[in-house]
Amino acid sequence: MSKKVLKFPKNFLWGASTSAYQIEGGIYCDWSEWEKSEGRKKKLKKKGKKLEDYVCGQAVDSYNRFDEDLKCIKELNLGGYRMGIEWARIEPSEGNFDMKAIEYYRKILQKLKDNNIKVVLTLWHWTNPVWIRDQGGWMNKKTVKDFARYSELIVKELGSLVDFWVTLNEPMMHFFNGYLIAKFPPAKKARICQGLRVYKNLVRAHKEAYKIIHTKNKNAKVSITQIVNYIEPAHKWNPLEWLIAKAYHYFGNDKFLQDIKKQLDYIGFDYYFHDRMVWYPPFRKNLNKEVNDMGWEVYPSGIYYVLKYLSKFKLPLYIMENGLPDEDDDQREEFIKNHLKYIHKAIKDGIDVKGYFYWSLLDNFEWESGWMPKFGLYKVDRKNNFKRTAQPSSKVYANICKNNEVISEM
Ligand code: FCB
Repeated sequence: MSKKVLKFPKNFLWGASTSAYQIEGGIYCDWSEWEKSEGRKKKLKKKGKKLEDYVCGQAVDSYNRFDEDLKCIKELNLGGYRMGIEWARIEPSEGNFDMKAIEYYRKILQKLKDNNIKVVLTLWHWTNPVWIRDQGGWMNKKTVKDFARYSELIVKELGSLVDFWVTLNEPMMHFFNGYLIAKFPPAKKARICQGLRVYKNLVRAHKEAYKIIHTKNKNAKVSITQIVNYIEPAHKWNPLEWLIAKAYHYFGNDKFLQDIKKQLDYIGFDYYFHDRMVWYPPFRKNLNKEVNDMGWEVYPSGIYYVLKYLSKFKLPLYIMENGLPDEDDDQREEFIKNHLKYIHKAIKDGIDVKGYFYWSLLDNFEWESGWMPKFGLYKVDRKNNFKRTAQPSSKVYANICKNNEVISEM
């Protein structure tokens, strides 16, 4: 086997991602309430699952341990850190902003700046204050205005410390999981017109926030993070499968980006999934030669095709999330290297890829899947003072970030 060194462009941004709800702990919002709702309890009981494994609670206590997280960020030689702020903390009741929460985030952002780490700030990562939930969440057009007011405050207070903005994290996942298959809160199967309202309000929210951020800083870099799957027909010669793949790609990957393309300074996207479409239900049949701890197919070459597709927008591209749950850490090193190999290939083809953020810096609360999936470059012992321990693969990633290159075995 020969070794090949794949050099990345100068100033390529190496990072890792987290979100506020998944790591901070102690947040009171629509998710924290939904987790403990009667309906959810019943469902878990029926499946023989323990509630405590599915409640976020103290998360990994990052709210009180940012310095420990910063140590991990530095050990990894990261140039960028993607993090979230929690709307429910900042505006716990309508129109009442908690300036202590803002001060808390200011300190964190300042520390990142002092350490020369570029900040990608996510304004909304699926969770809502309960008063937003009570007014109907994204189904209510007023939520767009409320989100704009919240965004305006953040830009005013924290804007000078932010390098990249993510207004909304994976709005399509919220739409799909929250309102179509009812897996995320509000977990209501919506009627078509209601679903459309949610979709439209999310589009409006991004556009409004984009405008606000740009009014304060015309050079700001603003995007959403879009989940982009690599979707292909199982048999290219089958017109039905081809059509299904096209339609799924259009609605799942493309539509939201098309609707906001004039309000994007870069494209932030998350790559996790390959979908091999067949013509019969459930319409997806992957070969699953390799799967991760959650049974998701590991399919590194898909990122190359996703990058090719995204290049049509002619904007700088940032992979804002890519990673896997791998408790034993026996797949992660190869996973990262293989994805980077295909990203490098896309760059060689002339595609403007500017950064890669691994999901996630730390093990964290994986939404409706709870505490089982371990995505972290650092594991966290929640029973032992939330101790962070580097996984062996984190050393490999740290070298990649430091040397701006991947050593690939061919
Ligand atoms: C993404 C989410 C992120 C995390 C990863 C595994 O869809 O944005 O919060 O849960 O999946």
